[in-house]
Amino acid sequence: MSVYRIGVLHGVNLDQLELRDPGHYGGLTLTQLEARVGRFARELGLEATFWQTNHEGEFCELLHRSREMADGLILNPGAWTHYSWAIRDALEIAGLPCVEVHLSAIDEREGWRRVSVIRELCVACVQGKGVDGYREALEILKEALAR
Ligand code: DQA
Repeated sequence: MSVYRIGVLHGVNLDQLELRDPGHYGGLTLTQLEARVGRFARELGLEATFWQTNHEGEFCELLHRSREMADGLILNPGAWTHYSWAIRDALEIAGLPCVEVHLSAIDEREGWRRVSVIRELCVACVQGKGVDGYREALEILKEALAR
């Protein structure tokens, strides 16, 4: 069996993770988070590749190209989650199984964070579990890809 390739895409402001409220985001740098997620992936026999951008159009272009580089996706688009119909459409174009992940429990925070424009396209949404949520997302994707 070939190793499934998982693209992990982080959106706007996630490169500043260590400067954000540790109560919501855990205090890790994005590099530390990616190292942990990379380890989770290897433990599960998956191969993770990471991308981050603060530019919405670039995020869309990454999604356009994602099929060449990945079998499944984990998306944490940051605040774009709540309003970017462009990212929603680009995810539809990508056509890959995707799990939405948020470090914080967005459904229990401000009203505007409870909206996700990508949720209907995702296999699952994992939120409020910090970095461990990414492990859960990898497990969900592995199962979805094996089906
Ligand atoms: C986030 C939640 C979003 O509401 C927020 O804008 C982020 C991070 C999370 O991982 O909890 O930037 O996606």
